[in-house]
Amino acid sequence: MSRGRFITFEGGEGTGKSTQVRLLTSYLTQSGMDVVQTREPGGSPSAEDIRPLLVTGAADRWSPMAETLLFNAARVEHWRQVIDPALARGAHVVCDRFSDSTMAYQAYAGGIDPKVIAELHRLALDDVEPDLTIVLDIAVEDGLRRAAMRRDSETRFERKGREFHERLRQGFLDIARRAPKRCLVVDAGLPIERVHSAVLDGLKSRLGLA
Ligand code: TMP
Repeated sequence: MSRGRFITFEGGEGTGKSTQVRLLTSYLTQSGMDVVQTREPGGSPSAEDIRPLLVTGAADRWSPMAETLLFNAARVEHWRQVIDPALARGAHVVCDRFSDSTMAYQAYAGGIDPKVIAELHRLALDDVEPDLTIVLDIAVEDGLRRAAMRRDSETRFERKGREFHERLRQGFLDIARRAPKRCLVVDAGLPIERVHSAVLDGLKSRLGLA
């Protein structure tokens, strides 16, 4: 049995990631594949316990390093309990955010040294990386407008201010530029169906799936 493929979606606030994760998961499932849909922070029972500590409450609730360690703690649990076992049994995993989010939010936008983020990832997960990462890109004001329409309490990062979100967007684009084989940037300002087709094209050309 060959290992499944690990596909992640990344991007700033309001890029429509969750919708695209859902659409891709149903497409692959309907094509008869074994697919696990999951998300970060969270995705396993203990990591879901950590999630509200990170995504709710005051923007300055955590120091940048404590926040980074909590994202990594949640990721170790998620990887060991859910993602790795699924890939090992041959299922494909579609994940809403993974370690590129830590690099973009905590380093590019949050100011932690990128080398520290990379080293923490290595200590926590060795050389684990997705087979394909879809980076959904949208103008900051459009993304924040869309995110504000959601009615939930998970607004801690949305409230971080315009400059943070500009650094974040450029961070994701830079990550994609540095890893062009793994990452595919898709214009998230397009209608949902067109974004979905671009994602499927990417899966076909990069992984031979879809
Ligand atoms: P979500 O809104 O996509 O569910 O993600 C939750 C929030 O957590 C989002 O504002 C981005 C943030 N985040 C980080 O800052 N670093 C990380 O490593 C991850 C996974 C998420």
